[in-house]
Amino acid sequence: MIILAVESSCDETSVAILKDERELLSHVVLSQIDIHKIYGGVVPEIASRNHVVYMTTVFEKAIKDAGIKVSDIDVVAVTQGPGLIGSLLVGINAATTFAYAHDLPIIGMNHLIGHIYAANLEHEMKFPALALLVSGGHTELLYLEDHMKFKLLGETQDDAVGEAYDKVARTLKLPYPGGPVIDRLAAQGIPTYSLPRPMLDTDDLNFSFSGLKSAVINLVHNLEQRKEEVNVENMCASFQASVLDVLVGKTKQALKMYPAKQLILAGGVAANKGLRNRILEEVTSAEVLIPSMKFCTDNAAMIASAAYFEYKLNGAKKDYLIEGISTIDFRR
Ligand code: KG4
Ligand code: ZN
Repeated sequence: MIILAVESSCDETSVAILKDERELLSHVVLSQIDIHKIYGGVVPEIASRNHVVYMTTVFEKAIKDAGIKVSDIDVVAVTQGPGLIGSLLVGINAATTFAYAHDLPIIGMNHLIGHIYAANLEHEMKFPALALLVSGGHTELLYLEDHMKFKLLGETQDDAVGEAYDKVARTLKLPYPGGPVIDRLAAQGIPTYSLPRPMLDTDDLNFSFSGLKSAVINLVHNLEQRKEEVNVENMCASFQASVLDVLVGKTKQALKMYPAKQLILAGGVAANKGLRNRILEEVTSAEVLIPSMKFCTDNAAMIASAAYFEYKLNGAKKDYLIEGISTIDFRR
């Protein structure tokens, strides 16, 4: 079975062609990071306009790279949400038009489920599994009973962890996206600044990162007002130590409450080297699956991977009306 998948929920324009479970025939990811960098974050209107400009080229390149004929494609998949509405609409329009023109069925895929299924591109997912999903928009712990059977165990009550990385980076006058830069500088520093470990001691599996973000901002402003120098590497190391204590601590707590065969690390923040190392070192009760860096940040291969199982389980329709741009629905 050959799936063509489209992802355009934020600032990556991506099309992938996947054969069966994990034979990736082509994968094109066009990142707009350099365009948004000058604004210090993603500007939604600019993101949608660039999706419009590049979508056809990315589509054509993916088909050419795969070395297939359009008639070889069995099903089309597209991210239907959550994401930036204008950006999503470009991908949805492109995918539905392509499906309609070639009389193919189409699947609207949830972006977060896509992040989790990045894991299956390189290894076989085994159940029950636990997933720590950490991205620019979400921070969640999920229990996966089986393919496409999710239970939300805990989530952030305010900021997502990636969002906190990006805001802290901005405060430290570091470029967007903040995650990779903070990760690199943290490795060069020592966690000398005292910062909170929000919600680490609670019984539930929820998170909160807004207070930690504010603690860094206040600390930096206080130091600046006293004309004291901020040691950027040490501040990054201190912030990252807090984040990792919370993420790793909650994950271990979740694994105690919900024993699982595998722990899946997913989402853009899963590219964090510090997080990858600590999870690998400290999680011993389950096999740890961490996608390669290129499958952690937004990409269409993960959408194709999720769509493969969605198609196997529930099939796909040809009505070309994707259910609407949804917010997350783990019961699907
Ligand atoms: O999954 P993603 O590409 O987009 C969303 O669905 O949100 O995640 C983007 C987020 C950004 O906040 C970015 O700063 C963060 O992932 N990120 C990282 C790293 N690489 C990307 N955060 C921490 N460490 C990294 N190495
Ligand atoms: Zn994402």
